[in-house]
Amino acid sequence: MVAIRVVLLGPPGAGKGTQAQLLQEKFHGCQISTGDILRKAVAEKTALGKEAGSYIERGALVPDGVILNLVTQRIQQPDCANGFLLDGFPRTVAQADGLQQILDSLGQRLDGVLSVQVPPDIIIERLSGRRTCKECGAMYHVTFSPSKKNGMCDQCAGALYQRNDDNPETVGTRLKVYESQTAPLVNYYRERGLLRDIDGMGSVEEIHKRVLRALGEQVP
Ligand code: AP5
Repeated sequence: MVAIRVVLLGPPGAGKGTQAQLLQEKFHGCQISTGDILRKAVAEKTALGKEAGSYIERGALVPDGVILNLVTQRIQQPDCANGFLLDGFPRTVAQADGLQQILDSLGQRLDGVLSVQVPPDIIIERLSGRRTCKECGAMYHVTFSPSKKNGMCDQCAGALYQRNDDNPETVGTRLKVYESQTAPLVNYYRERGLLRDIDGMGSVEEIHKRVLRALGEQVP
């Protein structure tokens, strides 16, 4: 298996987490989802969780310094030595500059940045139907990928819940925050020759094939 170092970029609900999970099954390395790490910290009421909770609840970004500290520590864990999938990070130019400094200090470089794009009406449809397992984090959608038993995870029988920030008002804020603070990273990485545009419309499997092709893999 090949080691890859990739960023998944895109608006909320574009399918970054879904595609990151599929990539992790195929390649070496770790999946770093800053959103998952922050939600776990909130649930466990750690100092990080107490600081991040109010930002997440209102759909705002957690301060760059907090996020960069978190990623600096996580990316140096042994399971990231053979590559990583960054899901939901970086989200600001300051975070992207910070990532570059982290990678320079580790003597590493990015293989690519996958920009997954989906129109706003589809994003709202995807987020309003998303359900996540409280125990194992497996993800479902009430219409597109429902669990076999209503409200119960197929993999571990855990309870499924709807994220607090997936309500229509907070999704609207998250979309605005994406446009103003994260979308500039598309050009940031295009100018550095790293950006790969991915059409995020279609089935999960179709998008996975596009992602693999963008990473130079042979796909039938
Ligand atoms: P985070 O958890 O990163 O949320 P997000 O970026 O808004 O992305 P989502 O997890 O909502 O969506 P996704 O693109 O991963 O889509 P998914 O695969 O789940 O961040 C949450 C909050 O944490 C932020 O608002 C902020 O406060 C804070 N935060 C996190 N990182 C930060 C950072 N770096 N800096 C500062 N603050 C940070 O798919 C969505 C749904 O669609 C699922 O139900 C899925 O089953 C379904 N689906 C996926 N693909 C398809 C398809 N092809 N067809 C049909 N359905 C599909």
